[in-house]
Order: sequence, then structure tokens, then C-alpha cells
Amino acid sequence: MRTVYVNGAYVPENEAKVSVFDRGFLFGDGIYEVAAVLGSKLIDFPAHMARLHRSADELGMRFTVSDDELLAIHRELVSRNNVDEGMVYLQMTRGAIDRDFLFDTEKLTPTLVLFTQSRPLIDTATAKNGLKIISIPDLRWGRCDIKTVQLLYPSLGKMEAKSRGADDAWMVRDGMVTEGTSNNAFIVTREGSIVTRPLSNSILPGITRAALMTYAAKSGTKIEEREFSIEEARDAAEAFITSASVFVGPVISIDGVELSGGKPGPVTLALRKTYIEESLTRAV
Ligand code: PDD
Repeated sequence: MRTVYVNGAYVPENEAKVSVFDRGFLFGDGIYEVAAVLGSKLIDFPAHMARLHRSADELGMRFTVSDDELLAIHRELVSRNNVDEGMVYLQMTRGAIDRDFLFDTEKLTPTLVLFTQSRPLIDTATAKNGLKIISIPDLRWGRCDIKTVQLLYPSLGKMEAKSRGADDAWMVRDGMVTEGTSNNAFIVTREGSIVTRPLSNSILPGITRAALMTYAAKSGTKIEEREFSIEEARDAAEAFITSASVFVGPVISIDGVELSGGKPGPVTLALRKTYIEESLTRAV
């Protein structure tokens, strides 16, 4: 049985409890991070912690634990649960208090929960076969740059993709792709440059996105940070997604239109290899 972390204690998963008055539960008033584990080490860890701080600051949430403590908790869970490959999920909520839309942050103690998920991240069906993507309207709120636990729309989007025989959905606002339900969206042009939407309130500033762009630039890949339409994406040479749980995931079709001959494209696969190699050298 897994050991999970809840508010200072390491407990078996079936004994872990949070209050029914927790604002994460009642209002979706919580933030989270997902850090990948490879060879029992954490990938892009400092960047995930930096984004957690930013999310807390944007919501005026107290931050009552140090980054050193958070690293120690991540490592302790990876060790106790023998995670070789997988993820550590961290959730911080504003805390528990009688239900009221108004809140006094000073009176609240944030709830902190972490757990691990062991699963292959390198040799996966997604990496080998690629993903079929559908497009759906982006009906989320206006602060998609904050990594909150309000994931109902992305969850419904993935369910719709599955019911239509696809693997995931890209969201479209005003004709332009924002991002995937739980990943950032990229296309590869016929000239071989990679295109992704610039950061704004409309997308999550993906940690994998940022790291990949640094590595890609270093290896001479041209990067265009600009908006692109779903039509341009369907007509692109290749497409891929980035996220902590997938790294670089090839997209093989969009709305039934095949890309790169219906299999993972060469630029995408090279970038996936680069990302994994580079991030392993920096793993903690
Ligand atoms: N999702 N965009 C959205 C909407 C996301 O939920 C995520 C991550 C990303 C990619 O960010 P990163 O590279 O930092 O993982 C982009 C995580 C993995 C999840 O919800 O499981």
C-alpha cells in the first residue's frame, strides 16, 4: 500500500484524511504540481516549486513550508514507495474553515497533500504510437496561467476525446489553439521550426514547455512563439504535446486529419530524446 503525505504526517493511503470543510473540496480553492520521476530522481524540480510559489502568490494563498522541506517530502515519498518511474503529485489548498465565499487567509492553515504514482514514462504506448487529438472550444476561466485544481472542463474534454475514439483534446479560443487539456500544444512547420502559443493568462506556463524550448534552441531548432489556428495545426508537418507526465508526446492526427503519415514525426522524436537526456542530467 502507498504511503502518502498529509499535513506533516506520512500515512498509509487508506488512513489519509482531509476535512469536508477544506476549501479545495468546496471551492476548488487549491493549487497543484506534478513532477516526473525518472530513475527515482525528480525532473525539473526547482521550476515546479517556482511555479507553485507563483500560483500561491496569484491567489493570495499562504505558503507555510520551505522548498527544502518540499524537496525532502518528495524524496521521502519516492523512497518509501519505491518509485523508479512515475510522478509525485502535490496539492496545496487554502485550508479548512466553515463554508463561506469570503475568507480570511490569515485564519487559514493551508492543507498540504502529496502522493506518488508509479508508471512507465519512457517506454509508453503514447511515445511509440502517438496521440489522436480532437479540437474542442476552450470554455475555461480567464486565469489558466494559475495551476489550480479546477480541472472539471479538462477532465470532460478528455472524456469527450475518448468517446470519439481519440486520446486527448486541444482547446480552441477565437479560432486559435490555446493548449491541450493537460499539456502544452506545439506544431512543427514544413521548414522544421517549432511553433507554440506565447505565455499569457490563456495557458499554463508549462515547465516541460520551457525546458524543451531551452534545449531545442541550444540544438539549433528555430522556435516561433506565436498563436496558431487549428487549421494551421491540421496542415502542419508534425505536432506534439509537452507535460511533466508525458514529456514530449507525438500527435499523429487532429480531428481525423493525419499528420506525418499517421505516425510520430522525426523532429518530435528527436526533441523527445533531447528532453529526456537533458533533464536526466539535471534531475535531483
Ligand atoms: N498538467 N497545460 C495544462 C492545462 C496542464 O494541466 C499541464 C500539466 C500543462 C503542462 O505543464 P507541465 O509541463 O508543467 O507539466 C499544460 C499536469 C501534468 C496534470 O494535470 O497532470
